[in-house]
Amino acid sequence: MSWDQVWIDVNIATMDPSVQRAYGAITQAAIAVKDSKIAWVGPRSELPEFDVLATPVYRGKGGWITPGLIDAHTHLVFAGNRTDEFEQRLLGATYQDIARAGGGIISTVNACRDADDVELFELGRQRLNALAREGVTTVEIKSGYGLNTETELKLLRVARELGEHHHIDVCTTFLGAHAIPPEYKDRANEYVDLVINDMLPAVIAENLADAVDVFCENIAFDLEQTERILIAAKQAGLQFKLHAEQLSNIGGSALAAKLGAKSVDHIEFLDEAGVKAISESGTCATLLPGAFYFLRETQLPPIDLLRQYKVPMVIASDFNPGSSPICSTLLMLNMACTLFKLTPEEALQGVTINAAKALGLEAKVGHLAIGMQADFCLWDITTPAQLAYAYGVTPCKTVVKKGQVVAL
Ligand code: NIG
Ligand code: FE
Repeated sequence: MSWDQVWIDVNIATMDPSVQRAYGAITQAAIAVKDSKIAWVGPRSELPEFDVLATPVYRGKGGWITPGLIDAHTHLVFAGNRTDEFEQRLLGATYQDIARAGGGIISTVNACRDADDVELFELGRQRLNALAREGVTTVEIKSGYGLNTETELKLLRVARELGEHHHIDVCTTFLGAHAIPPEYKDRANEYVDLVINDMLPAVIAENLADAVDVFCENIAFDLEQTERILIAAKQAGLQFKLHAEQLSNIGGSALAAKLGAKSVDHIEFLDEAGVKAISESGTCATLLPGAFYFLRETQLPPIDLLRQYKVPMVIASDFNPGSSPICSTLLMLNMACTLFKLTPEEALQGVTINAAKALGLEAKVGHLAIGMQADFCLWDITTPAQLAYAYGVTPCKTVVKKGQVVAL
C-alpha cells in the first residue's frame, strides 16, 4: 500500500451510520490518507501492510479522531459590536423592541456599510482562527449586514476571500433579506424586488453565494415575500434555507419544506405539522443554542418531535453580534446537551454528518469513510462524549485538512 500518511494508536468516532456502534466508533483503530482523501479506516489489527519507511506514521497517544467539525450557520463577517443593546436588554428591553426602534440588525448594517473589506477580512480571519483551534474545518458564512447591493457584495466577497486564504472551507450564503433597511421603511415589497432583481443577479454573476437565506419572521419578511425570494433562488439553481420560527410560528418551515430547502434554522416555535413537513422534504433542522441562551429564550425547539419524525438535527453557533456573540462551535455541543437535552452523540452528529447534509456536502465531508475528504481532528479525550461535557481548554491536538496536517 502506498499512502501519504497513516495514523495509529487512535480511536475513531467515524460518525458513519454504517458502522453500527455509537458515534460509528472504532476503538484501537487506524486511518490512512492518500491524495487528500481517506484511503483506509478500520481496526488497527486489520490495517494492510504498508511501506513504513516511506510513509509518515502519526501516533495519537490513545486519543480520539473525529471528522473535522462543521459550523453550518454563522454570520461571522461583521464589523462593530452590540454591547449597548446587551445592556439595554438587561434593563428590560426585548430583542424585538430594539429591532423595532431601528437598532438590532440595522446597527450592525451601519457598521458594515462603513467598514472596508480589509477590516472585515481581518475580523473574519481572527474568528476563523478561533474556530480552527476548536477543530472546525468547514464554516458557512452569511451576508445580511449590508442590505444594499454594494455592501451585500462586499460581505460575500470577503467571505469567499476568507475561504481562499484559510484552511477552513467556507460556504457562502446570500441573506439580503435579513431585515428591511431604513431606506425601504414601509416599502418591504419594493426591497424584496431589489433583492430579487438587483442583488441576486449580481451575486450570481460573481458566483458569490452557494445558498440563499431569508429571515422569515413577523419583524422581518412575511411568507409571501419569503416565497418570492426562495423561488428566485431555486430558479437560479442555488440551495436555500430559512431563519424560521425563531420568535413566533408563521409557517416559514412548511413553506421551506414545500420548496425543498436544505434546512430551517432556529425553529423554537415549530409545531408538529411543521416538523412533519420538514421530515417529508428531507430538510434538516438547525438548532442554535447560542441564540437561545443569549436571548434567554424559554420556548424550547421541538426536540422530541424532531426525533420522532427522524429529522436530521444540526447544531451551529449562529455566531453574530446580536443574538449569539459566541464564536465557539464546541461550546454549542455543551449547550445543545444542557439546554436542549440532546445526547452528546446527537450533538456531535449535529456538527458533523448532519451539518454536512445541511450544506449539501454530505458526499465529501462530515463522516470518516474510504473516499471521503481527509478532514479530521485528533482530540485528547477518553470518550467522544467529552467534547460535549467539558469546555474551556480545547482538547483539539491536531487538525488534518484535505490530507494536510494544519499548524493551529
Ligand atoms: O440568526 N434571526 C436573525 N438573524 C440573526 C441575528 C442577527 C442579529 O441580531 O444581528 C440570528 O439570530
Ligand atoms: Fe442566524
